[in-house]
Amino acid sequence: MARAAGQTVMSRLDELARFSSDRGALTRLYLSTEHKSAALQTQIWMQEAGMQAQIDPVANVVGRYEGREPGLPALLLGSHIDTVRNAGKYGGCLGVVAAIEAVAALHAAGERLPFAIEVIAFGDEEGVRFPVTLTGSRTVAGTLDPGALDAEDSDRVSVREALQLFGCNPLHIYQVARSKNQALAYCELHIEQGPVLEAEKLPVGIVTAINGASRYRVQIDGIAGHAGTVPMRLRQDALAAAAECVLAIEKRCTSEPDLVGTVGKLATHPGATNVIPGKVVFTIDVRSPRDDHRHAAAADIRRMMEEICARRGVALTIDPTHEGHTATCAPWLREQIGRAIAAEGLPVRELPSGAGHDGMALVDLTDIGMLFVRCKAGISHNPAEAVTLDDVAIGARVFLRFIEDFRPRQ
Ligand code: GLV
Ligand code: MN
Repeated sequence: MARAAGQTVMSRLDELARFSSDRGALTRLYLSTEHKSAALQTQIWMQEAGMQAQIDPVANVVGRYEGREPGLPALLLGSHIDTVRNAGKYGGCLGVVAAIEAVAALHAAGERLPFAIEVIAFGDEEGVRFPVTLTGSRTVAGTLDPGALDAEDSDRVSVREALQLFGCNPLHIYQVARSKNQALAYCELHIEQGPVLEAEKLPVGIVTAINGASRYRVQIDGIAGHAGTVPMRLRQDALAAAAECVLAIEKRCTSEPDLVGTVGKLATHPGATNVIPGKVVFTIDVRSPRDDHRHAAAADIRRMMEEICARRGVALTIDPTHEGHTATCAPWLREQIGRAIAAEGLPVRELPSGAGHDGMALVDLTDIGMLFVRCKAGISHNPAEAVTLDDVAIGARVFLRFIEDFRPRQ
């Protein structure tokens, strides 16, 4: 694929970044108006690339490029078009746009392969708006927990209601699930979101596995009171308890390599200068390459928070909101991606993914593979996210070669 294709990808990423609910920042949450605009634009690009494209009942955009005859099993490609708040332009969207560009190249050359291709622009990979994650990809994999539709955002709008407002029919979402014999594999191109490739001066790498993640919603109930009259020793301050919990989480997750834990969202109620906090709600995200290590850390964190809250006389409620097991990338796909990289004259480097991806859900449907593209300083989930045109062109070329040479598992 020529540098011109890389330029098309870059300019489309700029176009997608304009669909944002924040002025001067990129925020595109699942099922928002801006998500709808981005989905419609993506659908148009898929159609221009020679695909039959539609928005499915869970708001994924799905484009299908038939193989040498209609109805063949498909190689699934894609990534997500929802973002975190104040996001970069490349996470998720690069994989969608690059996959569309690969199909556009096949279409322009009149090339049909011995299998179909489906490009999917998933919604809800980031899990920011609702306390659920991977809703789009889990629906495709047939593993969506029906309770996910009842999850509510901070305005008490449920996933079910938001789907209806988006124009989707939630009653039909179970038709989205693919059967195993329709899917040959799932492959995703994504920015690395970490610093390894840059440090090793490599434009691309192959993912070995995606680290598992557990997420929780924690509520601490104390007693709201007058900031001037209640002596310190008589307080049941929910925020002071939460602060001790946050530090305990940090300490536990610092205690072993590769384990990470984050409290990324915390709300204090009633939230006034002169009121002792009566209620605090926060999130926990724990990740590790090993499921047993993650589970052990989560159990320790629970015990530590119970001890802290009991000592401080406040009530603790912990609700799991997401459990994603470590997803191994299939050796046969790693080998085929490696061959495409080597054919471009590049060194083949394998590395794990600390970030979550739609493959974590798709792995329950089919084998998964991932190609990472170098990003600047490993910065991601941040407006400073950056990639070079050269790296995008290389990534897109490797991805196209992989697709053209793809052979289903024997
Ligand atoms: C999603 O991209 C995540 O890793 O949180
Ligand atoms: Mn992300």
